[in-house]
Amino acid sequence: MSSEQKETLRATAANANLTSYEEARRTFDWSEVEKHFTWHSTGKVNMAYEAIDRHAEGGLADKVALHYSDATRLEAITYAQMKANSNKFGNVLRQLGIGKGDRVFIFMPRSPELYYALLGTIKIGAIVGPLFEAFMEQAVRDRLEDSQAVAIVTTPSQLPRVPVADLPHLKHVILVGDDLLQLAAGQVDFKAEMAQASDELAIEWVDREDGLILHYTSGSTGKPKGVFHVHNAMIQHYYTGRIVLDLKEDDVYWCTADPGWVTGTSYGVFAPWLNGATNVVRGGRFKPQDWYDTIERFKVTVWYSAPTSFRMLMSAGDDTVKAFDLSSLRHVLSVGEPLNPEVVRWGFKAYGQRIHDTWWMTETGGQLICNYPSMDIRPGSMGKPIPGTDAAIIDDNGNVLPPNRMGNLAIKTPWPSMMRAIWNNPAKYEEYFRFPGWYVSGDSAYMDEDGYFWFQGRVDDVINTAGERVGPFEVESKLIEHPAVAEAGVIGKPDPIRGEIIKAYIALREGFEPSDELKADIAKFVKEGFAAHAAPREIEFKDKLPKTRSGKIMRRVLKAWELGLPTGDLSTIED
Ligand code: WTA
Repeated sequence: MSSEQKETLRATAANANLTSYEEARRTFDWSEVEKHFTWHSTGKVNMAYEAIDRHAEGGLADKVALHYSDATRLEAITYAQMKANSNKFGNVLRQLGIGKGDRVFIFMPRSPELYYALLGTIKIGAIVGPLFEAFMEQAVRDRLEDSQAVAIVTTPSQLPRVPVADLPHLKHVILVGDDLLQLAAGQVDFKAEMAQASDELAIEWVDREDGLILHYTSGSTGKPKGVFHVHNAMIQHYYTGRIVLDLKEDDVYWCTADPGWVTGTSYGVFAPWLNGATNVVRGGRFKPQDWYDTIERFKVTVWYSAPTSFRMLMSAGDDTVKAFDLSSLRHVLSVGEPLNPEVVRWGFKAYGQRIHDTWWMTETGGQLICNYPSMDIRPGSMGKPIPGTDAAIIDDNGNVLPPNRMGNLAIKTPWPSMMRAIWNNPAKYEEYFRFPGWYVSGDSAYMDEDGYFWFQGRVDDVINTAGERVGPFEVESKLIEHPAVAEAGVIGKPDPIRGEIIKAYIALREGFEPSDELKADIAKFVKEGFAAHAAPREIEFKDKLPKTRSGKIMRRVLKAWELGLPTGDLSTIED
């Protein structure tokens, strides 16, 4: 199909921050963006200062930095208050002897306190590690063990899932509760300490390459990887906030992602606040009415969400849309999974908005391939690389392929927010950079003759369910801890709403019979022992699983069974 015939949604925003994509690609220079930051006078910098204090001191003191709401709370926090509260938390940590380079984890539901803790940690130069509140003990243990975290900020109800006794490095448990807490040794009452702490803090000025944040994410083998990012990422967060989120001074911006996921920090904390916007956070579970109510109540202008959410909103129907006033919206974006053309078409009809797909990864730290308000959208395409970066499709030998050929999606190194390490695992880090000059994403894609990139799939077995990356190996490892399970192989099964669901093929131990009760019990075992989002939604029992002679379960064969496809080369199969 020639590009003229391709379905197109025309560029709409003549007054976008990025007026001409083509021109910016020719003229853009990162050093221009760098001038925006404080290090040009001091040589040092701090992300939290640039995001909050700079605005609190620079005329935005009384502007709302955060509109927080959930079923029981409704609070507006100004930039001045955000500065004061994060300063207080920085002082609480310092009094505990915590400082630059230490790892401080946050394991709690969204709340204003979560944001004070996150920013306060960064202000003293410590490295913050946000965790999904839904994690169970094993998931928490893996991450705290690997990072050797010295402190965790959590709530009394999450505390039973923090295996304190097994974590020798974990010295401090900071509890965010409603009432005065009965404290055990090593525990700290967040509210009581915050009440006493000074709201003046000497910020730790750090080098651009000093540690900022650790996001654990899944690969196809082994335990989760700690993706390590540094303060320098602010250059990209600020810039993409301007040209991709198109943030302007009076925008009210809502990113629906949890800070346990990189989207909830890069674009739920850093990008909006670096740009001085008003940020909206909605706590609690997804419900279409609550979401639309959030847009209506706060008059959200820029909205960043994910395909699974848009698909759920689509299935909630047009009448639900019509029951709310969503006329404040002017820019809508999506990330995390392929955005179906059908969803783009529906969004255009239902909201009168083009949904702008954006592609990036935990490892890339920031957006890389995007659709921009001033550029035509081709529904189904992730868009084009941001100015200042280059993307290409390369073959398995690192050669760049011509347009319309499928291959490995790769990004030319470096870019400002690129990960700087996999914590404790240099070999894993090197794998991404095995072709000199390229970062290899693990996604397959092609580029059309006009430079638009089209996602095709993962090249590995990583599952993407409702936008969350799940490593099949971690789920399999948990499954075989169940007394009935002898062998387990886990794949992503295509699903109209969630993109993929987790399906487990299981061979039972001697003496166990397949039954629906057993399926439910096995799913519950993963849910309660590991994480709810990693529990298989579908289980199928088999007498035997296909394995290589070295004993590795062949997920590709399971996937072929599932899709009714030929199983391909079976020469390495066991029998
Ligand atoms: C997938 C998310 C298709 C992809 C910020 C990538 C996407 C992985 C898109 C990263 C998109 C992300 N279209 N697929 N627009 N965006 N992905 O690290 O497979 O949780 O490699 O970060 O999600 O997931 P992660």
